[in-house]
Amino acid sequence: MRRILVIDDKDLMRESLADTLQGSGHAVIACASGEEGVKAVSVNNFDLVITDLKMPKMSGIDVVKALRKIDPDVPVVVITAYATIATAVAAMKEGAFDYIQKPFKADALDVIVKKAFELVDLRRENEYLRGELKDRLSEEFVLGNSSAMAGVARLIEKAATSPATVLITGGSGTGKELVARALHFRGPRRSKPFVAVNCAALSSGVLESELFGHERGAFTSATEQRKGRFEVADGGTILLDEVSEMDDELQAKLLRVLQEKTFERVGSNTPITVDVRVVATTNRDLPRAVAEGSFREDLYYRLNVININVPPLQERLEDVEPLAMHFLKKSGSQIKLAPDALHVLMEYSWPGNVRELENIIERAVVLSSSEVITAADIASGLGGVYSSAGRLEALVRKAPLEELERFVIEERLKQLGWHQEKTAKSLSIGVRTLRDKIKKWDLKKNP
Ligand SMILES: Nc1ncnc2c1ncn2[C@@H]1O[C@H](COP(=O)(O)OP(=O)(O)OP(=O)(O)O)[C@@H](O)[C@H]1O
Ligand SMILES: [Mg+2]
Repeated sequence: MRRILVIDDKDLMRESLADTLQGSGHAVIACASGEEGVKAVSVNNFDLVITDLKMPKMSGIDVVKALRKIDPDVPVVVITAYATIATAVAAMKEGAFDYIQKPFKADALDVIVKKAFELVDLRRENEYLRGELKDRLSEEFVLGNSSAMAGVARLIEKAATSPATVLITGGSGTGKELVARALHFRGPRRSKPFVAVNCAALSSGVLESELFGHERGAFTSATEQRKGRFEVADGGTILLDEVSEMDDELQAKLLRVLQEKTFERVGSNTPITVDVRVVATTNRDLPRAVAEGSFREDLYYRLNVININVPPLQERLEDVEPLAMHFLKKSGSQIKLAPDALHVLMEYSWPGNVRELENIIERAVVLSSSEVITAADIASGLGGVYSSAGRLEALVRKAPLEELERFVIEERLKQLGWHQEKTAKSLSIGVRTLRDKIKKWDLKKNP
């Protein structure tokens, strides 16, 4: 059912218009003044506004102008008497969609309403196509070869079609935001807005008006009324990035939105109702924040209806190669990755996860002097972080015992300037054993 707002100061005209439109199966709200009408649009979403031109105080043109600011997408049709057609044309210059001349028949009204809805649909279709584009962009989302990410993908498919709130957890740079986008663009809300808000980037006062909007004059810098992100996201998805950073007061307000789907703009008492799917991310340990009292337990449970945990890159090293290839391709260069460069990537511990991998590949592409990225190009990018300690940690976690042994021997040889007797002695093994191992692993002084 379409939602139409009718604005006319004359009771008879307003009521008959509302009746006719309701008779055609639309949901109609009627207001007796321009001021009231503008207010209605600022708290509700309409598919069409029909307004009389000549009204005391706020005229139809003023309504058109005001609505351009509040909701530029809603088409406005002005009703005009023969004498005011010139004004109707002026209204169209201000952005009215069309005008209809009094007196008119129900059929003529139907035609114009249909035309307006076609426009609405076209715009939505457009948005949808843009969404599709983004969806294709979210093919940027490399799943890789790991079973861990296959599990994440299965969860995304399932959760995308559900209206439930999703909490996406995982370390910094693991791809939580990409998961949130995939949830939106693979679900039924894909043609509606996806709105991301970083809760850590804004102070709590600013965040509140960002999320819920504010009335003009609500605070000193509020020179204009503004819709909050929850309103902008109506019908779609809101991503609350780093949700753990909200203060107590905002947590309470968010809880209410989740429970009642209702909130008020800052400086207003009028409740606004929206249909928004909430997705939140955090790289903090929320249960712990709950235990420590910095995060509301009830809010935690409201957010964590579905949990998708994105594992650290180190636990899915199978994904390193496909991700590296993806970032190489994205860089637009023809440069290749040498096999031993990949080897270095596979041994690294990835504290910065996928974002770090992306940075390292980008850097190597820029700095590499030949057509291939070498192990040295990569290792220099990893800098101090790519330390023996980092490698050792990775080996301890994953590698077969023999590789650890090889690592220790190589390190000790380096440390002692490849003096084989000293090395053997410091490892408490025989020189012959050491030589055997050097031969077996083909260890070289300057590989
Ligand atoms: N699976 C993936 N496929 C392709 N690119 C990825 C993938 N995962 C992460 N990235 C890229 O890595 C970078 C970090 O990803 P994202 O911003 O989603 O991480 P995050 O978990 O939200 O990080 P933070 O906790 O720092 O906010 C982005 O540039 C993103 O495109
Ligand atoms: Mg993020």
